[in-house]
Amino acid sequence: MNVLVIGSGAREHALVAALANDPQVDAIFAAPGNAGMSSQAELRDVDVNDPTAVTALAVELDADLVVVGPEAPLVAGVADAIRDAGIACFGPSAAAAELEASKAFAKQVMHFAQVPTARAGVATDIDTVAMMLSEFGAPHVVKDDGLAAGKGVVVTDDFDEALEHAKQCLNKPNGRVVIEEFLDGPEVSLFCITDGVTVVPLQPAQDFKRVGDDDAGPNTGGMGAYTPLEWAPEGLVDEVVRTVAQPTVDEMARRGTPFAGLLYVGLALTSRGTRVIEFNARFGDPETQVVLASLKTPLAGVLYAASTGTLADLPPLEWYEGAAVTVVIAAENYPGTPVTGDPITGIEEAEDVEGVHVLHAGTKAGPDGVPVSAGGRVLSVVAQGPTLAEARDNAYDGVGQIFLRGSHYRTDIAAKAIEGSIVVSSQGAGQ
Ligand code: AMP
Ligand code: GLY
Repeated sequence: MNVLVIGSGAREHALVAALANDPQVDAIFAAPGNAGMSSQAELRDVDVNDPTAVTALAVELDADLVVVGPEAPLVAGVADAIRDAGIACFGPSAAAAELEASKAFAKQVMHFAQVPTARAGVATDIDTVAMMLSEFGAPHVVKDDGLAAGKGVVVTDDFDEALEHAKQCLNKPNGRVVIEEFLDGPEVSLFCITDGVTVVPLQPAQDFKRVGDDDAGPNTGGMGAYTPLEWAPEGLVDEVVRTVAQPTVDEMARRGTPFAGLLYVGLALTSRGTRVIEFNARFGDPETQVVLASLKTPLAGVLYAASTGTLADLPPLEWYEGAAVTVVIAAENYPGTPVTGDPITGIEEAEDVEGVHVLHAGTKAGPDGVPVSAGGRVLSVVAQGPTLAEARDNAYDGVGQIFLRGSHYRTDIAAKAIEGSIVVSSQGAGQ
């Protein structure tokens, strides 16, 4: 099988690495890809948001399967165009990707599918925003309706800050905001692979969205992740498939816009039960880095089955024992405008650490073969280990080998899970 992966982050590097381990895969191409993938994939340049250009590339490469990593190409209709050309594509249609592209649309689908989520209102003017903020009370949750690369959400006790964020969102063309009730409790990311009918959940993971330790500072695309979640209530995955993923997939099919690809369910385990925080229409970054490191079943067959409507025939997924942890190394000033162009050293030394591999994101090939920083999230250091504590130690040993001037990372990825200090106050599954 020839596979073309669209995107250039550590998530796509993780996809390439997993596909490279699948004996069914003959050749991997990545567009545009990144410097770290070049030993496993042939890199090709393309405007990922141009459906005609991506389809032409897939045809030229004789691709049997195209895997679309990021949301923007999906929303632009890349998956539709590839399928129209008769090539299997892992990723939803533009119409189905609205589940991620519009939080208001996602809320509407959840309402019809009776999926448990935060109470919310949609506003297009600031007076309505102020009224809703007062009604829901603090902590305030204000979300840009549209795509914002993980930076559209502000959660704050400060009314004025909430109002200010809403103003900025409303100032955009067709600006709309979603105001929500605050959800307490630990967060879980559950990736569900679907062909539009059948839902196959992957192993749940936890992401660390804030830039600083102890969840300080602004939201980012994600600063680290781990899997599995030993503290999660028994039956959580089955509960989420039954009450969230399957009803959502069924509702999308009922609307004539079936969702096939990856339904990313972001959850809060609140004192009143499990609630959806958000949907995404693609693999999450950095959770993918740990989930795919843990998946034993060869990936290409799974994604191909989802892309061809044959997921029901797939044998149950198999997982490695043990745990995986990833720590993101970010450039100076991220999540603001990152400082770029600095050399990165120590990647090989990091990969010499037991259980560690390093995935590239914002890097490019520099002079003398030394990669240089080229984006906000620069590297994902991924480690496996027989226990979560060992995986975490390995990950930080790896991180310690890498030098990038001004870079930063969180030091508390998976720490609370290991301490046993994550409290789930809900009644657990069935709520
Ligand atoms: P989203 O882009 O919707 O996933 O939001 C990004 C992050 O904001 C989430 O991972 C949560 O940490 C936080 N968040 C979003 N919605 C809520 C909510 N209703 N209550 C509490 N935190 C939230
Ligand atoms: N890890 C969060 C996201 O991919 O949106």
